[in-house]
Amino acid sequence: MIEQRVFGAWFRSPVLLASGTCGYGQEYADLIDLESLGGLVTKAVSLEPRPGNAPHRVAETAGGMVNAIGLENPGLAGFIATKLPWLRDNLSKAQVLVNVVGRSVDDYAAVVRGLDGEDGFLGYEINVSCPNVKGGTMFGTNPAALAELVRRIRGETDRPLIVKLTPNVADVGEFAMVCEEEGADGLSAINTFPGMVVDTASRRPLIGNRSGGVSGPAILPMGVHATWRARQCSSLPVIGVGGIRSALDAMQYIMAGACLVQVGTASFVDPMAAVRVSEGLAALVEAAPERSIGDLVGSLDDA
Ligand SMILES: Cc1cc2nc3c(=O)[nH]c(=O)nc-3n(C[C@H](O)[C@H](O)[C@H](O)COP(=O)(O)O)c2cc1C
Repeated sequence: MIEQRVFGAWFRSPVLLASGTCGYGQEYADLIDLESLGGLVTKAVSLEPRPGNAPHRVAETAGGMVNAIGLENPGLAGFIATKLPWLRDNLSKAQVLVNVVGRSVDDYAAVVRGLDGEDGFLGYEINVSCPNVKGGTMFGTNPAALAELVRRIRGETDRPLIVKLTPNVADVGEFAMVCEEEGADGLSAINTFPGMVVDTASRRPLIGNRSGGVSGPAILPMGVHATWRARQCSSLPVIGVGGIRSALDAMQYIMAGACLVQVGTASFVDPMAAVRVSEGLAALVEAAPERSIGDLVGSLDDA
């Protein structure tokens, strides 16, 4: 059985689409059956609309890609007017998490406050870790700033509040503890790593923003490790994300402590990737002695 109750809601599969790689759901509706998945995480929503960075915004690398989209999004009002209605009207089984980003504590709080009375989504994934915008990593790399942010957002909502951790710290475990202490309901691990691709012909960075975030298969072991550390240091449910292409990749995260997983970059190679991972997990769970995904979570023998 791969169905699970997490954050007070039913997830019919542990597999979700990762933020920034599935738009706002509608973009994938003609390609895959979104309702067969556990759900999706929207592209980041900020208080004001953001145009994003200059091109190129993505570059392929060995083992993954580098992106610097720059958090392009229609802003809070635009999201409510143009994106949320589709999610509300078309998804009844798949759970929706809204990825939230801001430049200041007030920004984040205003987005959550503005969304909280709306229908069509379960909760929030707070992006404290975007390496592609100026100041974007501040909250995720400073325990005191993170504590203040989580405390403030907690005061704005009773919905599930999931903090997406950055791997760009000495020990993710310390940040997991801060989130738990300040009342978060869960963690996502991990966001991307800073990276750069040089165009040797022009001797310029290939990405318009110069640097970007590295994602894809190359970061799988880092994500699994971060998930394991987060689970060692907190009792919060963890959503594992980073480099997942197959059911066995996802199972690594689950055994390391993730109860849900997200598929990102792999969907750019094959839009069916998340569905394949979900179906593959169902087969793996059926073959395991536990026969239930919940019993496999954290089943790693690391003694
Ligand atoms: C093009 C692109 C855009 C992304 N945008 C966001 C975003 O808006 N918010 C966020 O929290 N993470 C964002 N991410 C990070 C992913 O959600 C995910 O954490 C990361 O890519 C690692 O997973 P993967 O290796 O499966 O892609 C983005 C990633 C990519 C590739």
